[in-house]
Amino acid sequence: MKTFPNSASPPRQKRFNDQRDWFFEKRFGLFVHWGLYALNGWHEQHQWRARVPRGEYVRLAQSWNPQNFDPDAWLDAMEDAGMKYICLTTKHHEGFCLWNTAQTDFNTMNTPYGRDIVGMLAQACQRRGVPLCLYYSVVDWHHPHYPNQGRHHELPPQPGDAPDWEKYVVFLREQVRELCSNYGPLHGFWWDMNVPEAIDRSINDLIRQLQPAAVINNRGFDEGDFGTPERDFEEADETGVFGRPVEACQSVGMESWGFRRDEDFYTDRHLQRSIAKYLARDANYLLNVGPDADGAIAPESAALLKRIGNWYRATREAFENVEPASHGSSNRDVLLTRRDNTLYVVLHRDPVGDAVKLKPIQLAPQRATLLNTGQKVEWALDVVPSEHVQQGAFLRLRRLPVNALCNTVLVVKLEFDDLSGLATSSAQANQADGLIR
Ligand code: GLC
Repeated sequence: MKTFPNSASPPRQKRFNDQRDWFFEKRFGLFVHWGLYALNGWHEQHQWRARVPRGEYVRLAQSWNPQNFDPDAWLDAMEDAGMKYICLTTKHHEGFCLWNTAQTDFNTMNTPYGRDIVGMLAQACQRRGVPLCLYYSVVDWHHPHYPNQGRHHELPPQPGDAPDWEKYVVFLREQVRELCSNYGPLHGFWWDMNVPEAIDRSINDLIRQLQPAAVINNRGFDEGDFGTPERDFEEADETGVFGRPVEACQSVGMESWGFRRDEDFYTDRHLQRSIAKYLARDANYLLNVGPDADGAIAPESAALLKRIGNWYRATREAFENVEPASHGSSNRDVLLTRRDNTLYVVLHRDPVGDAVKLKPIQLAPQRATLLNTGQKVEWALDVVPSEHVQQGAFLRLRRLPVNALCNTVLVVKLEFDDLSGLATSSAQANQADGLIR
């Protein structure tokens, strides 16, 4: 069997069909975790994890003075990495607000720095046409009304607390209103840590009313617009397409999201694999850095972003404006994406050899190119000894530089005259294997 009569589009997530659809055009973004914890190079949850009394923690605000903060430097680093949008923690669990909020004094205006960081970033984003998303933690280790009860991600009760969830939600709603009213167009609202798992649809409704282009994640008061798989969990099926929009997130640091002194870092290859694994499946990806107390992206993180960018800029055409097409082959060691008659082969797992078999594809490409280097890729359509039973001449990529480039996720571009014969479902591809057998 060579081709398939039915070339219906491969599975793809539903689009929103409104202003939120920017999310499907710009798929790779920079996540930024920044707060008082950076001053001591602490994990962003140090206050909770090390049981630092609130009275002591709040004093950090007296030293907040990131003189080197330059939103354009962040956006330059973001663009260098090939990313197209940014998401900033406006208030992490510690409760310190990076904007000029009227709802609490615990904010950047009441520090030696005294400037509105969200405002500065928003202006730069607008000037440069970069979509801005804002992260907001529901859990709050500073606000007296937040019911800190010592549950997960919560402090034990602190002196001066007056737990009152209703009042806390009034405060939260007013903060959301400020963020959605005072900083121009927003493109996303990224909730985190709704410990009580409270549901209140009116809160996302408020965001939608004020910021119609904002995509909302699933960690707030309802299921929102998209799912947020975190870090790099192993999935049973690494090739499947998601049932709803997804934005995976991962930090460059293995331990923390903020700037942590003595951080350990992921390998470039691990991050490339992870990014490839999601982007090739129609999902978005947020890669995170934590700027230091001075406002700069510290050298290790900056260098890592640059290296990821070098890889991503070379391979990005395989991940942007494409459809997932892994079902086109029964080979589960690669991911496929497709645009018209071009097929991209992403080697997201450690290659075990220098050849890749693309059963049941039996089409000859016009051109085969390794995007990482631009070099031509050898291919063959012949019966290899291991296929002696089926006698199938399947497309095989050969002599890939797997040893020389063993730290890189390789991506091959295959240009065909006519790719309408590609299987449109895994069942079809597997069946084709079976039929030949
Ligand atoms: C986890 C971390 C939190 C971080 C978030 C980002 O929830 O605990 O600190 O902000 O991931 O997704």
